[in-house]
Amino acid sequence: MARVKPIYLDNAATSHPKPESVYLAVMAALRDGGSPGRGTHHFARTADRLIFETREALAELFSGGDSAQFIFTANATSAINQALFGLLQSGDRVVTTMVEHNAVIRPLRQLQSRGVEVVKVAVDPVTGIVNKSALQQACLDKPTRLLLVNHCSNVIGTIQPVEGLGRWCHEHDILFMLDGAQSAGLLPIDLQTLAVDLFAAPGHKGLLGPQGTGFLYLKEGLKLTPLIYGGTGTNSHSDLQPENLPERLESGTLNLPGLAGLKASLQFLQQTGIDQIHLKETRFIAKLLNGLQKIEGIKIYGSGNVMLRLGAISFNLEDRDPAEVAYILDDEERISVRVGLHCAPDAHRIIGTYPTGTIRISPGYFTTEEEIERFLTVMGKISKMKRKK
Ligand SMILES: Cc1ncc(COP(=O)(O)O)c(C=O)c1O
Repeated sequence: MARVKPIYLDNAATSHPKPESVYLAVMAALRDGGSPGRGTHHFARTADRLIFETREALAELFSGGDSAQFIFTANATSAINQALFGLLQSGDRVVTTMVEHNAVIRPLRQLQSRGVEVVKVAVDPVTGIVNKSALQQACLDKPTRLLLVNHCSNVIGTIQPVEGLGRWCHEHDILFMLDGAQSAGLLPIDLQTLAVDLFAAPGHKGLLGPQGTGFLYLKEGLKLTPLIYGGTGTNSHSDLQPENLPERLESGTLNLPGLAGLKASLQFLQQTGIDQIHLKETRFIAKLLNGLQKIEGIKIYGSGNVMLRLGAISFNLEDRDPAEVAYILDDEERISVRVGLHCAPDAHRIIGTYPTGTIRISPGYFTTEEEIERFLTVMGKISKMKRKK
């Protein structure tokens, strides 16, 4: 029997496929690129320009002002680590939520052992939405340095209603940080309007760029201690790390092919329009929720309101191990989904799926209606199958 065409429903992990222009840009940068910021020859200057243009494209997409405030990192995790370890010291206090990713949970746990106080605010067990007043109250209980919120849950897709939080934080002398790992590229985000002080995102998920790319935005005037010290191609006479951005936080040779690919994907996003992408994504989520609801034995987690969610849908099949279902999907049907805790154990404790987790599906911009229909048909079939021993 001819094998069926694979279906990729794991865009919350990394987007696949990427726009064609991304593959071409990566290849061209590998062939033509020098070391950005290192040297005055043609190859280095070309690389330097490419990096600058990628930074500019980010600043434009996120309304972030001066592009020097966008620091390139290897992924969202390294951006979050740079932000937290670069900012927080013993005696500082952080307020966050119970739907954070391990990229936040683990550095905060480490910082706790260095004397940083961490307060996690509960979320609604069904919708995953954190109560704004509870968050604000937690911030006011004691002097707080940072409020850190996961913009969109990678487990149940909850979009947190963060509007107004940044300004409120500033009125109370608190810094406001968003983990944009699941929202960047899928939701229109204006960093100035949201009054965000720190924003971390990967380049390889909703931004449709290559793996190995990510960034940290920090508001002008905010100074972080670098996590990594070294060569920046500037101030080479000095053994001190430069003060100015982006060099201060970007030691070592940058990922030129990755960032060339990111530039191409940012162009694709601008041309397509984030509004259009959001609309398409919402349509897919609605279709998936609607279809899954009709299958007997399926329990879907998170809000039933598609306007309150994005990206990822978690579900389970009654009395079935999610790992077994994911195995059948992959092995027999070539449908790639994610299974388990999705690096967010607290979220599973809240929704009652700890420790086995859930099956997570996340369509992407290049998912098709037909693929969604086939996935739903297959799920209907699996729901009727006898449990494997
Ligand atoms: C909410 C959230 N934060 C952070 C991350 C970490 O992203 P990266 O793998 O790019 O480090 C992820 C990845 O899935 C995520 O979903």
